[in-house]
Amino acid sequence: MEVPAASSASTSLLTEKLQGYAELHNYGLAHLKSSALNCAVELGIPTAINSCGGEATAVDIMKKTGLVPAKLSHLRRLMRVLAVSGIFHESTPSSLAVGEQGETIYRLTPASRLLARDGKSSDMSALLLLFTRPDTTVSTFFNLVGWFRDAGTKTPFEMAHGMSPWILTKMDASYNDAMNHACVADSDFIMDIALKEASGLFQGLSSLMDVGGGHGMVAAAISRAFPQVKCTVLDLEQVISKAPDCGTVQFVVGDMFSSIPPADACLLKAVLNSWDDDSCVKILRRYAIPSRDAGCKVIILNVVLGHGTLDKATKEAQVLLDIYMMRGSGFEREEHEWKKVIMDAGFSDYSIIPILGPVSIIEALP
Ligand SMILES: C[S@@+](CC[C@H](N)C(=O)[O-])C[C@H]1O[C@@H](n2cnc3c(N)ncnc32)[C@H](O)[C@@H]1O
Repeated sequence: MEVPAASSASTSLLTEKLQGYAELHNYGLAHLKSSALNCAVELGIPTAINSCGGEATAVDIMKKTGLVPAKLSHLRRLMRVLAVSGIFHESTPSSLAVGEQGETIYRLTPASRLLARDGKSSDMSALLLLFTRPDTTVSTFFNLVGWFRDAGTKTPFEMAHGMSPWILTKMDASYNDAMNHACVADSDFIMDIALKEASGLFQGLSSLMDVGGGHGMVAAAISRAFPQVKCTVLDLEQVISKAPDCGTVQFVVGDMFSSIPPADACLLKAVLNSWDDDSCVKILRRYAIPSRDAGCKVIILNVVLGHGTLDKATKEAQVLLDIYMMRGSGFEREEHEWKKVIMDAGFSDYSIIPILGPVSIIEALP
């Protein structure tokens, strides 16, 4: 019996419908991409591939990561989903005869190269582990609907944990470590580029105050590149007490809402996006703005929505970071929102240097 040919209109409608069906599966199961990546980083798979000379089979990875052979077929499934998601590159040996099944070979992609520990280049594993941390991420973001429906003033993080992230770092040593290590990893990566591409920002300074500077990775990088700049980190007690002594950076325990010690420049990386506008203005006003003629300034490193390389991955990274900041009272800002905060804090001018992918450098001048 001949099957009647479908009209081209109904074929394209069906194609669209099935595309939507597949996309819904992708969105609904996207958290499995995060958990598969979390698992790969925890197992040390990018490092294992790297230590095999940049390419490895599942058997190589199993041996390097110490997995038991009974898990090999599951490891292949994990590698397959991460390869389809673009975290690893997969190929089969080209020299195979027809019908012969070869072992898939995995290689690092630009993303997973940032997760391989080789002691030389930046390692972003700790940032990935913070983003995918079950204790704080799942509990906070899988009940957003509860928070939207709640008429109270608690943030999603407070609803899930009974306190803000900056109190939890005090109460929970493992969260404190996860946060500090993530910030070190991100700062190591970012500062390597910022100091090459925008070194002029730091020229002529004699002192710099890194406010909410964590374990001092940013300050240490600046003081290595500009030894004449006296760099100080201001942060909370639970952070400073765990900071390693790099010899060139001074650490000060303090609350940026109370006072910020004076310096030629005040730097805030990944700090202001945790706070609402009034809090940001309050923090910026704690920095006693010295004279513009003396080259004084505030340097902010944060997302400026709509600035930077605006490919799909970068745009998505910016808006996902914004939802991530929704866990507290912060958010990622558009240029006009930054302008308002900067002007309300008493600065007269600013410029945006969008050279760090999703992140920009904002220079605010008195
Ligand atoms: C996301 S981390 C960024 C750390 C660092 N700037 C970096 O990018 O590597 C935010 C930092 O702000 C600090 N912080 C939060 N509240 C603070 C306060 N009231 N006074 C000083 N630092 C604070 C946190 O302890 C944390 O180290």
